[in-house]
Amino acid sequence: MNNTIEHIKFNVDKIREDFPILNRKINGKPLIYFDNAATSQTPKQVIDVIVDYYSNYNANIHRGVHTLSQEATDLYEGARLKLQNHFNAKHSYEIILTSGTTHGLNLVANGFSNLLDKNDEVLVSALEHHSNIVPWQMLCERTGATLRVIPMNQEGELIMSDYEGLLSENTKLVFVNHISNALGTINPIQDIISKAHEVGAAVVVDGAQSCPHIKPDLQALDVDFYVCGAHKMCGPTGVGMLYGKKEWLEKLPPYQGGGEMIDQVTFEKTTYAGLPHKFEAGTPNICGGIAFGAAIDYMNDIGFDRIAPYEQELLEYATNQLSQIEGLKIYGTAKNKTSVISFNIEGVHPYDIGTILDKMGIAVRTGHHCAQPIMDYYKIPGTVRASFAFYNTKAEIDALVAGVKKAKMMLS
Ligand code: ALA
Repeated sequence: MNNTIEHIKFNVDKIREDFPILNRKINGKPLIYFDNAATSQTPKQVIDVIVDYYSNYNANIHRGVHTLSQEATDLYEGARLKLQNHFNAKHSYEIILTSGTTHGLNLVANGFSNLLDKNDEVLVSALEHHSNIVPWQMLCERTGATLRVIPMNQEGELIMSDYEGLLSENTKLVFVNHISNALGTINPIQDIISKAHEVGAAVVVDGAQSCPHIKPDLQALDVDFYVCGAHKMCGPTGVGMLYGKKEWLEKLPPYQGGGEMIDQVTFEKTTYAGLPHKFEAGTPNICGGIAFGAAIDYMNDIGFDRIAPYEQELLEYATNQLSQIEGLKIYGTAKNKTSVISFNIEGVHPYDIGTILDKMGIAVRTGHHCAQPIMDYYKIPGTVRASFAFYNTKAEIDALVAGVKKAKMMLS
């Protein structure tokens, strides 16, 4: 079968009808939203679930015998099952609902405080977001362990031979993102995980940027921990997921103390609840969790096998068009890339380009993208980043290219 876009029949106009915000005008111009790597937009199917929850089901969960509480609990636990199913976790209790990716990473980093000592080493990739650097630096400060960095090359790919050279029996943990938020590089996580396991190290994968593009099979990957956030994949902000293998989650201590995470409390001693509640202290973002489940349903209804090739087509189109602008340099040219383009124009500050594009209704992110070590590597203060989602179009990319040309003319 010829698996081209034409055969897949990706009806982007119809999909766009699901996103009310795409009708907005910004500075009198139709919104062109290219900041999807920061936060994706929310379809009405998810917005409806949020409105329905507060209109009909709002109550605290796991706590009441009353009908409303039980219904809210069923919806929340139903969302956990959707996440288990989508990411292919073996057990539903391996899915911990968090406030977002950063929360999940800090939970793991905190948990390893008593499991590392000064002879241990932890590896982190040069391509990380600050949220996958700072918690591990703090962990190393607490334990005396050494943080080592897997280097990258000019294309923005990890140097795998250097990674292999860094691995040793002292390596206890490896932290890597599946996809770089700043450059769009898709890292070879299967290979990274297998090689780490050969020396007995555990692997934490930051899936914040991959979850909107790739449906990972966590059991097949054999990853030890995987984190992501709902707002990158059509869900609300303030809710995310930490997956951990049962053996690891049982080994880690609770992160926060409070209601819900206990078994018995006396002033002499507290015993903790089992998984997943041990890691879910306090009233969670109930509506957010339920809406996360709805976002997963929405994306699966469209289908990741249709989303990925469409976004690749947008990436190739935009890369070709932008590359033709004289003085424009794209950072991150990995062979395996997702729909993110980071670029600069010679002699022009990225903020100025972003400001002019905003006047034209085009939303991009500018700056270091919470990845200062990547900017240091390229010796630049930041970039303009356009990140595409499945609801973007080639016509919008044409408008971006025209906007960048105009900005260049005005600024150089
Ligand atoms: N981590 C998000 C980004 O890359 C906020 O923009």
